[in-house]
Amino acid sequence: MASSRGEFSSRFGFIMAAAGSAVGLGNIWGFPTQAASNGGAAFLLVYLVLAFTLAYPALMAELVIGRHAHANAVRALRLISTGPKSRFVGGATGIIGFIVASLILSFYAIVAGWMIAFCLSSATALLGFDDASTWLSSFSLEGNLFFMLAFLALTVGIISRGVQDGIERWSSRLMPVLLVTLVLLVLYVLSLEGASEGLKVYLLPDFSRALEPSLIISALGSAFFSLSLGVGTMLIYGSYISDKENLPVLGGMVTLVDILIAVVSGFLIIPAMYVALHNGVEIFDSTGALISEDTLIFTVLPGLFSTMGMAGTIVSFSFFFLMSIAALTSSISMLEVPVAYTIEEHGVERKTSVMAIGLMIALASTVILFNFDTLFGLVVAISTRYAQPLLGFIFCVYAGWIWHRNRVLKELRKGSEDVENTLFWKIWPWYVRLVCPMIIMGIFIQSIFG
Ligand code: PHE
Repeated sequence: MASSRGEFSSRFGFIMAAAGSAVGLGNIWGFPTQAASNGGAAFLLVYLVLAFTLAYPALMAELVIGRHAHANAVRALRLISTGPKSRFVGGATGIIGFIVASLILSFYAIVAGWMIAFCLSSATALLGFDDASTWLSSFSLEGNLFFMLAFLALTVGIISRGVQDGIERWSSRLMPVLLVTLVLLVLYVLSLEGASEGLKVYLLPDFSRALEPSLIISALGSAFFSLSLGVGTMLIYGSYISDKENLPVLGGMVTLVDILIAVVSGFLIIPAMYVALHNGVEIFDSTGALISEDTLIFTVLPGLFSTMGMAGTIVSFSFFFLMSIAALTSSISMLEVPVAYTIEEHGVERKTSVMAIGLMIALASTVILFNFDTLFGLVVAISTRYAQPLLGFIFCVYAGWIWHRNRVLKELRKGSEDVENTLFWKIWPWYVRLVCPMIIMGIFIQSIFG
């Protein structure tokens, strides 16, 4: 069965695909801006701890379940269920997961569209087409619609080619480009005046903030979003891994790459803000806090680039190019979730499924764009702040409680015979059984009532 539904051809291919999914706007944009406004290195520390102790075990839960079933989340969770109730909850979780994945894609495509527009805006500026360049960075409704659709078309194009020719091939091409672009940008920005001030903010921890509940909640949300957890993305990628592979090692590598890119992006964004300050661009808001989120990306950074002349335009192009690639390797993993479900459960042909679901998501994005002020923040909050941790919780419960421990062990043994004697097997089972669900719930309840 595995071969007819597609499989990653190599370990490298899987790591690029899964890291491509994980590394996205969340890492390059979300993480550094949150770190900057939440105590710098203190946030970094909390993030690192949560990523290894919570996100990695939760990632492993998805990978193991997916690889075992070689199927989408709905079928996989039903397969490991032990009775009618857990079968029902499992199936429902899978279905909610693919709806949430589609919702995430519907807002992600809008933001990614802005990235493409800003990238082209720099390109046209370089060529001397100033009017076009101004229009491209003006966030006009037509522009927003057009680039959202263009981004979705790219995503649809890749996913319609399947696992090896689409996901694996494009992730393996784009991820190295992303890495090189990121490193070059960091090196350049660090060489500018004012950057060292930003390094201090990033690297000197403000521990008075490290234990604030709001900080821990944002760090957990970031870690979950960043590793693409809770919506079945990693489960479906896991289902395309060959039985020969050592899952704990593969999962560890993906986590490492994801964290590394987030941390390296911090070395780009935060110093860049202080270079901007040095060049006379405002980087603090009226309350004295660092400007973050969209204003940072689309006002402060372009403000900085425009003080740098020609070099600024090239840097601007590279930066938005980087963001567009990061978004694309993530969006394909979101689209694969509902597509795999309709192919496997309803026998729909891949191309038909991709087109139909792509159109529905384009429609959802259009509705969001027309009601931006009311819907955008709401969709982001529902899908990433609430749904992702809650679904992640259920995946952990399935891996830790519902699925029999010996069967989990049997699955893990496939790619690593003596897994029983490893540190992983000493820690992970009770982690995913007790620690992860408890902490996710605790933080979740805090975030609602706290
Ligand atoms: N991990 C991606 C990012 O950091 C977002 C994502 C979430 C991708 C959920 C897939 C599923 O931007």
